[in-house]
Amino acid sequence: MRSIVRTTAVAAGSALALGLAALPSLAAERPDIRDRFGPRGATPDAVFHPSAPVTVSWTRADALKIDPGPEHVTPTIPTDFPIISDDLWIWDTWPLTNLEMEPVAVGDWNVIFSLTAPRDIPFPDRHSVAEIGYFYSDDAQNWIYGGPLFPEGTALGQREWAGSMLITGDDEVHAFYTASGHDEGPNDPDDVLQRIAYAPGEIHADDEGVWFTGLDEHEIIAEADGRLYQTLEQSQGGPIIYAFRDPFVFRDPVNQQIYMLFSGNNAGQAGSHTCDRREIGRVPGGHEVPADARYYTGNIAIASLRGNSADDFTEWRLLPPLISGECVNQQLERPHIVIEDGNYYMWVISHAFTFAPGLEGPDGLYGWVGPGLRSNYEPLNESGLVLGNPPEAPLQNYSHYVMPNLLVESFVNQIATDDGDVYGGTLAPTLELWVDGDEAGLESVLPYGYIPAMAWVPEP
Ligand code: FRU
Repeated sequence: MRSIVRTTAVAAGSALALGLAALPSLAAERPDIRDRFGPRGATPDAVFHPSAPVTVSWTRADALKIDPGPEHVTPTIPTDFPIISDDLWIWDTWPLTNLEMEPVAVGDWNVIFSLTAPRDIPFPDRHSVAEIGYFYSDDAQNWIYGGPLFPEGTALGQREWAGSMLITGDDEVHAFYTASGHDEGPNDPDDVLQRIAYAPGEIHADDEGVWFTGLDEHEIIAEADGRLYQTLEQSQGGPIIYAFRDPFVFRDPVNQQIYMLFSGNNAGQAGSHTCDRREIGRVPGGHEVPADARYYTGNIAIASLRGNSADDFTEWRLLPPLISGECVNQQLERPHIVIEDGNYYMWVISHAFTFAPGLEGPDGLYGWVGPGLRSNYEPLNESGLVLGNPPEAPLQNYSHYVMPNLLVESFVNQIATDDGDVYGGTLAPTLELWVDGDEAGLESVLPYGYIPAMAWVPEP
């Protein structure tokens, strides 16, 4: 694996001195850091206070550079891929992690969590009945289904969408997930309210397997405010649903503060945004911005934990988005981060169909690197695209999740064949990335669903 090196990295301490005080008047206009520092290439590293109202734009000019070369194409998966469960569709997946973002094994068991749905419903219908299930494995690739994560009837909303699961101490676990749909009423697939929910519990393990206690007291810990993040009501009229989902909780090693990344949209009524120089960037002459591009407002959202104590994960403060895809893409899903030597590698997944009109990119993994949590992120490989699906199988993989060892897990989504679509609903081959400064690509292909722990706690 090539090492993670970034020649322009600044010492985090000195960079943090460039805080809010340096930017007294910028709050109202949500500036793009890169506008202030000139063209890419001549951009000095800039790190801002994590709560500073400074958001980087993923510009249309960036996205126009999307050009999947061989190192940025996900290898083709044969249609006879192995299936983890004959009973369940499995899609978005995340490992048990510590605050350092490392996958953690408990005793001999690697532990992962997935969105699941009965395999006998049509694959495209799975989102409206999604439930988080857990799996454990002693070899990090043959996964045993442990059951639904939450005791029946305790989760909020009408269905559970993606999240993260922390372990603190020896056995305390903290489930963060998206409560999708309102709490009341029958399950309505068109009810796309999204709130971020939390439930604490304990993990247990013995020679036979893994199980949980607690996880039965749930509360909403973050909701869209309409000021920083678009609400359901503000989103109405847009062509693709809004996001306030997919929490990922971690601790920034620089200031030891605990944060939650999630997927959001820029606040404001759908259609009220405008595509300005900041969002358009330095596009080639003749690039037209279709009027409907203004409906595309996906962002990488962030909140900080009030009190910053691993004993209380219930009070969060919404902060301005870190990266905005306004006029570029409506959904920057499942944001997560890998921090190495002061470089912050930010990852999201996105779809071809969520790109704004006039732009094209494959379903896959996109990323940025910056010298601090809130900093002048640069899109990896100039465009942001890291791994896209092959043109002959454009829906093949989705929901990539990059771990600190640069292994990337994802699920097999849908493979077109002459006899119709083959649905996956199971874990795809794990991929290994190489990362070198502001470039990243495919290093190697590993076994299906290989998600090894990087840290261990003894059997509780
Ligand atoms: C990505 C995703 C997530 C969401 C889930 C719902 O695959 O769209 O953003 O939480 O799927 O099924």
